Amino acid sequence: MSTVDRSKLPPGPKSKFPLGHLFSYRRDSIGFLKKIAKEYGDIVHFKIGPIRIVLLNHPDYIKEVLTVQHRNFVKGRPLEMAKELLGEGLLTSEGDFHKRHSRMIQPAFHRNMIESYVPAMIKCISQMMGKWQDGMKTDMKDEMTDMSIAIAGKTLFNADITKEAPEISKALDTATSLFGRISLPFSEWLLKLPLPGNLRFYKAKQRLDNIVSRMINECRKNKMDNGDLVSLLLRTQDENGSGGLSDEEIRDEAITLFLTAFDTTSTALTWTWYLLSQNPEAEAELHKELDHVLNGRLPVVEDIPNLKYSRMVLGESMRLYPPSYVIPRQAVEDFAIDKYIVPRGSIVLMSPYLGHHDPRFYSEPEKFNPYTWDKHSHGLDSKYEYFPFSRGPRSCIGEPFAWMLETLAIASVAQSWKIKHVPDHPVELLPLINLRPKYGMMMTLHRRK
Ligand code: HEM
Repeated sequence: MSTVDRSKLPPGPKSKFPLGHLFSYRRDSIGFLKKIAKEYGDIVHFKIGPIRIVLLNHPDYIKEVLTVQHRNFVKGRPLEMAKELLGEGLLTSEGDFHKRHSRMIQPAFHRNMIESYVPAMIKCISQMMGKWQDGMKTDMKDEMTDMSIAIAGKTLFNADITKEAPEISKALDTATSLFGRISLPFSEWLLKLPLPGNLRFYKAKQRLDNIVSRMINECRKNKMDNGDLVSLLLRTQDENGSGGLSDEEIRDEAITLFLTAFDTTSTALTWTWYLLSQNPEAEAELHKELDHVLNGRLPVVEDIPNLKYSRMVLGESMRLYPPSYVIPRQAVEDFAIDKYIVPRGSIVLMSPYLGHHDPRFYSEPEKFNPYTWDKHSHGLDSKYEYFPFSRGPRSCIGEPFAWMLETLAIASVAQSWKIKHVPDHPVELLPLINLRPKYGMMMTLHRRK
């Protein structure tokens, strides 16, 4: 055990309880992080049981961890629960293993590949709208989830899983409801006990596994290369023999991409509909762009560069409600930052939510103003004060996929539908694995034309 020089630890709240700040953090993680950043500044140390946690709340410090000194950090302990569900996929793996897999999977996210997914994306979006009726009340979170599942199934597996979407969404909800437990000390042992929550987790995991395995087997049986991701992974097996991915590795990558793809995108879209309903001027400007560019037809790839305001709306929505609201890492060795030492083994937290609402970087941080991104190409020019997809070598591989899907969904839906928030439906944050709306998002659909 290394000794910790307490005089070099960053400042932070002390706790007289053995579990430290566990309950405050679990009760309201975002509120807790905001409060300690306000009280102690941009580098704050606190404990949950024996675990040391350091919040970094300045773009320069975040850059150090995600990019400059990224080799000194692993996903580590915070991703353990995700590993239980996803196995050793791109999100959870480390080092050479991660590098090798990333190289193999990257081609599925090249621009021309993403563009080839557009007809499938549009088909799934149209199918969703085909079921809508004027004046209908619906939970937009469910609508966006089912649509995103259908798109992920079609583009990643060339499978039609529209019917299974509610079951998949329920299984993911059950599996991820346990994720909060990861902040508990000894959570790795807790997971092995036959507790009711654990049994529900493993049952939900089994259901997701079965669906994904069935889709992989279908791809394998058909021996058709449809340009989907799983065909690409299976091809690496055929072409490289023992150099390709094993069946288990393919399973882990497939389930990782499938689950990371649909929950994040559906969450981002749900918040976007809510924000548009609360900001009629921005909504009118969006409608103007869509009427001008699309004039009543569904979008195609060539329209994307002309849907500038639509992308600005999305950029601003992911600023106010970044689906991945906190990005954790674990320090491998002691890490010097400013005048402090973060001891090795500590968890470092960086929060897009906090950064995106910081008045030092945004003049009116709580205001929905798509023009924030007028001069930036959807946030890509700004750096570590805007990082919904993270930054550096472990940033989101699916980012271009997400921009494409979300832009097409916003454009296709908003040109035909005006979506109003049901006024008495409560809107609260549920920071679980992603930053979801706690009570879903009840909205009314009104046909525009
Ligand atoms: C709005 C949509 C999305 C958001 C906000 C988002 C956000 C993120 C973030 C913040 C990370 C870094 C996590 C970390 O460092 O711990 C990440 C990683 C990742 N994302 Fe996304 N993501 C989105 C969509 C997607 C999609 C559509 C896919 C797949 C089709 C995807 C696949 C992945 C994968 C595989 C990783 C791990 C990459 C690596 O470590 O090499 N994401 N995402």
